[in-house]
Amino acid sequence: MPIQFADRMATVHRSFIREILKVTEDQSIISFAGGLPNPELFPVADLQAAAVKVMEESGPQSLQYSTTEGFQPLRQFIADRYKEKKGIDVSADEILITSGSQQCLDLLGKVFLNKGDNVIIERPGYLGAIQSFSMFQSNFLTVGLEDDGPDLAELEMVLDQNDSKMFYAVTNFQNPSGLTYSPEKRQGVADLLKGRDVLFVEDDPYGELRFMGEFHKPVVRGYLKDDGVLLGSFSKVAAPGFRLGWMVCSGEMRDKMIIAKQASDLHTSTFAQRVIHRYVTDNNLDDHIEKIRQRYGNQREVMVKSIEKFFPAEAKVTQPEGGMFLWVTLPESVSAMELFDEAIKNKVAFVPGRPFYVDGTGENTFRLNFSNSDETRIEEGIKRLGSGIKEFLTKS
Ligand SMILES: Cc1ncc(COP(=O)(O)O)c(C=O)c1O
Repeated sequence: MPIQFADRMATVHRSFIREILKVTEDQSIISFAGGLPNPELFPVADLQAAAVKVMEESGPQSLQYSTTEGFQPLRQFIADRYKEKKGIDVSADEILITSGSQQCLDLLGKVFLNKGDNVIIERPGYLGAIQSFSMFQSNFLTVGLEDDGPDLAELEMVLDQNDSKMFYAVTNFQNPSGLTYSPEKRQGVADLLKGRDVLFVEDDPYGELRFMGEFHKPVVRGYLKDDGVLLGSFSKVAAPGFRLGWMVCSGEMRDKMIIAKQASDLHTSTFAQRVIHRYVTDNNLDDHIEKIRQRYGNQREVMVKSIEKFFPAEAKVTQPEGGMFLWVTLPESVSAMELFDEAIKNKVAFVPGRPFYVDGTGENTFRLNFSNSDETRIEEGIKRLGSGIKEFLTKS
């Protein structure tokens, strides 16, 4: 008898990036494809010391089942940090610790999405969100990104013309584009959402990785009072392997999220939560983040300079002030998918942009990651890619 899978599995595909990463496992390929932090910056020794201390001080508790909400001192640390760094009021009770911020997307889907519900996402949008919300058979509507955030006229039109359940946005150094919402766009989004039953979900794993320019308050709590959900993560400021993220939410929504999380995994690893808490208590997280900013800032600088030197003038590139990605737009006639095959022959990889567009556009775009390659490889890789693009342009 044939195996009968659930309907939802028919529309969700394996992550395209995970597939590409297999190709780039070959060490001779310079890969700008992954979205990985630089492992040289993981605070291995400090985390090791924290882990030993947790075992010595609270071994049995750290290995026991625990509450779904998460380790209270860690939630307090996160709440205090919002006040100190972002100037927004969040209480420890409003923080739900999750298994990576990716789990928040799954929980949001479980709590909010019925089959066919409209979800507004950015164009291009974060693949992990597309995959996660697709599991709930949602229908995507998209809003284009300009250099300083979403096209507000388009957002207004999409909101006016459809009943939507949520608007999911990555407001700082977006994955994949590297773009950031300006204060004006943040205010504009908040104004447009006012009085509508559309949940704003603000995903912010990269906000602390700013190399230049000004910090902006999150839309949630900064511009939109009370409403909205804000997501955060330790993946990019400490280490992704711990799978520690969180969601800021309150009231009935928080209660529903807790039920959904209980049904999913009971709670996030007790040990991981305690180790990260010990780490942030015994060390200065700001000093560590400053190292990441310096390093990624240099890597980004080398990538931007190399692009200016080696890419043809027709290639348009975003100039992110932080995060891990640059976004390239080529002339309409060029297929980044086809360019990818050529690039692999030249031993350099990137992620073609089309999967980030649920409407099937974006053929001429691609994403470059600068956090996971050193400066020498960045320059060499961009040089190879630049000559590949030039050849491609001449042929097409
Ligand atoms: C925009 C965005 N949201 C969420 C995630 C998931 O991160 P985490 O490791 O916290 O699950 C990522 C990871 O790359 C991301 O880019």
